[in-house]
Amino acid sequence: DYMHQIMGLSVLEKQLKETLKLDNIVIVPGDSDKQTQVKQEMGKVCVGFLRENITHSGTIAVTGGTTIAAVADMMTPFDKATCLFVPARGGIGEKEENQANTIAAKMARQANGDYRLLYVPDPLSESSYKTMMKEPAVVEILQMIQGSDIVLHGIGDAITMAKRRKTSNEIIGKLQKEEAVSEAFGYYFNDSGDVVHKVRTIGLHLDDLSDSNHSVITIAGGTSKARAIKSYLKQGRSDLLITDEAAAKTILRDH
Ligand code: BG6
Repeated sequence: DYMHQIMGLSVLEKQLKETLKLDNIVIVPGDSDKQTQVKQEMGKVCVGFLRENITHSGTIAVTGGTTIAAVADMMTPFDKATCLFVPARGGIGEKEENQANTIAAKMARQANGDYRLLYVPDPLSESSYKTMMKEPAVVEILQMIQGSDIVLHGIGDAITMAKRRKTSNEIIGKLQKEEAVSEAFGYYFNDSGDVVHKVRTIGLHLDDLSDSNHSVITIAGGTSKARAIKSYLKQGRSDLLITDEAAAKTILRDH
């Protein structure tokens, strides 16, 4: 029954907080690998949290992915503020509906907010990066991204993400050799949470997250992401993890 389920999840949340050494975790029922509506349930939790906590206008930076796209599906206007939505990083060669730009624009539409987009390819060569960084329009949006108040991001399984981004065999080989297990913001991490590879693009860098001016909200669920979630949170900063029952149970079981 429902009460039983909610109580069970709060016990699970307590255990997961101890295991991941994280103060704020919300677990929704189900497995987002198997039921697509579970991503939308995580999205609802995220939107509910934003609605309660956003009291003045600010900037929200978002990554791409199907999970953050589900947050966009659930987005509604905030009562007390109008927000500006920006992509956290340049495009990552994903399907249009899963790109950070598309998601930022959709969130803005649903929340009656504003958006700014960042059109840079990903990965960028060193020389293109340097050239792009001389463009005033790029620098302007980069400042908005780096100054964002809230960051919403997903976590992926490393090899799944590398393949989805059509990464070269050479890099995939490197990721396998370095035992990459998770990916977030274009960074790939091993089981200890060390960065083993990063995709060069313009946008939020891992170092930017450590300054406490941003609130970082992590949304990732599904049995297939259990190891990835644990790996990212070894060193990656998160102020709130929204996950699902299947990921939580797998993390606790394999701990
Ligand atoms: C990407 C984000 O677009 O989506 C990553 O940049 C994340 O940080 C990934 O790993 C997760 O995708 P999905 O579809 O599993 O939510």
